[in-house]
Order: sequence, then C-alpha cells, then structure tokens
Amino acid sequence: MYSQRCQHLWHGFHAVTMEEGRYNTVENAAIAVDNGVISWVGRYADFSGVASEYTDLGGGWVTPGLIDCHSHIVFGANRSREFELRLQGASYEEIARAGGGIANTVKATRQASDTELLQRAESLLLDLMADGVTTLEVKSGYGLDLENETKMLRVARELEKQWPVDIMTTCLAAHALPPEFSDGDAYIDYLCETVLPAIAEQQLADAVDGFCEKIAFSPAQIKRYLQTAVGLGLPLKLHAEQLSALGGSKMAAELGALSVDHLEYATVEDVAAMAEYGTVAVILPGAFYVLKETQQPPVQLLRDYNVPMALASDANPGSSPVRSLRLMMNMACTLFGFTPEEALAGVTCHAARALGLAETHGILTAGKQADFVCWNIESPAELSYWLGGRLNKARVKRGVRRDI
Ligand code: NIG
Ligand code: FE
Repeated sequence: MYSQRCQHLWHGFHAVTMEEGRYNTVENAAIAVDNGVISWVGRYADFSGVASEYTDLGGGWVTPGLIDCHSHIVFGANRSREFELRLQGASYEEIARAGGGIANTVKATRQASDTELLQRAESLLLDLMADGVTTLEVKSGYGLDLENETKMLRVARELEKQWPVDIMTTCLAAHALPPEFSDGDAYIDYLCETVLPAIAEQQLADAVDGFCEKIAFSPAQIKRYLQTAVGLGLPLKLHAEQLSALGGSKMAAELGALSVDHLEYATVEDVAAMAEYGTVAVILPGAFYVLKETQQPPVQLLRDYNVPMALASDANPGSSPVRSLRLMMNMACTLFGFTPEEALAGVTCHAARALGLAETHGILTAGKQADFVCWNIESPAELSYWLGGRLNKARVKRGVRRDI
C-alpha cells in the first residue's frame, strides 16, 4: 500500500521490474515518480495516495528503459564496401591486415568535423532510442591520437545535450595501431604518457577500454594501458577473447574491470576470474552474426559461475552495423540459447552494472531513475520474439514522457 503524495502516477500496464535479473512481474501496475526518480512501484490497486498528475498508458508492458552498454556510434563513414568484400569471401581479419577495417574508419573519422560526426551518430542514436534505448555507452577508438580521440568523446557527450538519453563515454584509444606508429609498445607509451592523462584531466571519459587481440594489442600491452587508467581513477572495460583466447578477460577482471566484452573464446579460467572479481560479461551477438563466427560465447559456463550477462549492440561500421538492441535480444536467444528473461536482464539490470550504473539504472524500484518504456505487447517474451518493428508506445526518461 502506498498512501503518500507524489508528482506523477503512471498506470494502465503490467510491469517487469527486472530486480536481480528476473522479471518480477507486477500485474496491473503503477509507478509513482517524483523529480525524475521512482518513488514507488506496485499494483495500481495498492495505490491509495494522491498524485498531482496521472497518466494511463492504456495497456501493454512496461520494462526499465533499455541500456545499450557497448557501442561505437561515432564514426566518419560506413563500411558497406567491406561488407561486399566479405560476401565475396574476404575475412574480417584479412581486410584488417590489408589496411582496411578499423584503419579505414580511422581515416574517415580523422577527416570528419564535429558536426559531421554528430549527424552520423544521431542517425544511429535515434534508431536505437526508437527501439527503447534510454541509456547508451559510446566509445572512441577511431581517432587514435589525442586530437581525434577527444573529438570523438566530445561528440559523444554532445549527444546527451541534444537528446533525452544518458550517454556514458568510454575512451577506446587502444583499439588499433594508427598508421603513424609501427610499434605497438611505442603507441601504448604514447597513450599512457599523453592521451589517457589528458582525457582524464578533461573528464571526457567515464571509462577506458582496449582491444586485446592478435590483430590489435597483446595482454602485456593492454595491462600497462589499463593499469595507467586505474592510476588515473578511471573504470575499465575490455574487448577480449573475440577471435582468440589470450587471457585478456582474466587479466582485466583481476584489475577490477566493470565488464569484458565479446568473449567467444573465453576459458574457464577467464570466467572464474570474472566471477571472483564481479566483472560483467557483455555478449555481442551482432558481431558474431556479421562475421559469421562459429565459436559461441560460453553462456552455460557464465551461468554456472553466476557471472551476469549483459547484451549490447556493439553498433559500429565494421563488424556490427546494428540499429536495434531488441534484435540483439532475439539473436542472443536464437544463436546463444539465452532465455527471453535473460535477454531482457542483459539490456537492463546487467547492462547497468556493466556501466557502473547499478545504483541508479536498470531496474524499476524506488530510488532508481524513472527511465521506462511501455511496449505494445502481450507478454515480455515478445521483446525477444519479434524481429524488427516498432513495439514501444511510450518512452519515459527521468520521469518525462519523451516519445521520439
Ligand atoms: O567491437 N572488436 C573491435 N572493435 C569493434 C569493431 C570495430 C570495427 O570493425 O570498426 C568491435 O567489434
Ligand atoms: Fe566493440
């Protein structure tokens, strides 16, 4: 029973709160909101207070606003030409080694103005938001020098000023070797001595990420870079075990990383370390699908070790040109055996934890930010079941209805 006064009472729907990663269904629910924060969630029949404003959403299901905890939506140009080359048989690795891939995007991103990058990013952002995203992580990583990494992060921060979405920025300067360097160690020196300190000083990044892979940086190089980030007080994330098993995820977990991402080749040692240090596994079905990978992420092992599994778009112009987070929910179920409940937890409460936002985001309960979406569906499993389409009918950000 809730008998207090509140600013706004939302009702006319069933809700899943997603506390502890479970649906926790509330039928005929209501959500009380004060100053953008949830003050109560329960059955409408149990509300005996008074609200200054009432909104009847007219049916459907409410979930926490979706959180996309891994994206690269700021970039200079798309790579549909490489898509065509891959269809003719070239692999992602071959294209990267021949100077295409990430290097291609770096060239275009360095040439692009802030305005051009912003416009391109907005195009993806609006599609992701239209499909229910209320919080999005955005990485740099196509600048690869101080000027262009800061440009990307500035653009990412600008998105939050322009649109009703929370943006978390991540510095991914250790993404690839830029053309002006021939030695990975020397580039890592430059990042540790110049780029990371400047980005920390300007407070442009909420976290630091790298790419630990044979075609990118070794575990030893990444360790040095992540340790520098720790010294600067920045939280860690890591792209690891995507194409081969190098033990990057174990190393990042031991350094206290919020998440390690991709993980197709993660071993039992990696997973055990993630469990021990509380690191979230971010699963990225878009890149797996686009690159036609066959090695599946160790989903059952992650379950056995109780490692929370988040799901994200990895939206980027190369390996994952994804514009819908719900599509990732479907792919995680179809390709990796997630349950629809796990998929929804992956884009709500576990994604919040992967961003260090578990205190404020990802579940519907008193004290959390009032970010929620009302979907025109008859059961929550439909969020993973339908491929594409426009299912959401209302999107509430910080307590304000902001349908786009
Ligand atoms: O997350 N794995 C490395 N980075 C991106 C791909 C970036 C690109 O191809 O442009 C990823 O998949
Ligand atoms: Fe990525």
